[in-house]
Amino acid sequence: MKKTLIAGNWKMNKTPTESITFVKDLLERTKNYNDRDILICPPFTSLYPISTVLKNTFLFLGAQNVFYEEKGAFTGEISPLMLKDIGVDFVICGHSERRNIFGETDEIINKKIKKVVQNGINPILCIGEKLEERETGKTFEIIKKQLENCLIDFEDIEKLTIAYEPIWAIGTGKNATPQQVEEVHTFIRNWVGKKYGQNISDSIRVIYGGSVSPENIDDLMKEKDIDGVLVGGASLDIDKFSRIIDYK
Ligand code: 13P
Repeated sequence: MKKTLIAGNWKMNKTPTESITFVKDLLERTKNYNDRDILICPPFTSLYPISTVLKNTFLFLGAQNVFYEEKGAFTGEISPLMLKDIGVDFVICGHSERRNIFGETDEIINKKIKKVVQNGINPILCIGEKLEERETGKTFEIIKKQLENCLIDFEDIEKLTIAYEPIWAIGTGKNATPQQVEEVHTFIRNWVGKKYGQNISDSIRVIYGGSVSPENIDDLMKEKDIDGVLVGGASLDIDKFSRIIDYK
């Protein structure tokens, strides 16, 4: 039985000192659930200090980005090899903020997820439509195109988590309804099933991100095809994030 995944994406928030205080507190407040994995994705500067606190605990550690080469003259970049060395388990690839602010394309994201699995790390591929695309009925077309492009020649599907993050729901306080999310997740699972086989498709996690909160988590997690959440703002607050982890 696959576990659900409750992940916090801290984005560009928390100093290393604040990060350590937070994860120590989180370890005390939460427990090792049998049915759910808990993941923290802090900024790069907090990864190593947090990794020392999380060693041999039930919390997983993730990075928010990575470059697609192992080493070389790429000023300012961080490689999957470096992340692996400090015990990073997951990497978020292709978050909409990376796409829209930093110009990441599906082609770049495709290279990243391939390199990440080659280094023994699990990629979390983010996809999602803009507001005008939803309003003009293009949601499924956009999702299909992103899946096709980002998964070209990608074999290690069992290592992949897909995060559906509609851009209009991110940081807006306006989450997609459980029904809207379920509809897209079912579409994603069917697409993956056609390309890779239904058994694999059923076994991978498709998670949702966009204004997840203590108020909406229980309803979201009741849907059959929602295998977890990627939480931004609410993951910065220990009370809110603990409640989200403890969804009913
Ligand atoms: P919010 O939860 O702040 O809307 O952010 C979602 C997100 O982008 C997670 O990756």
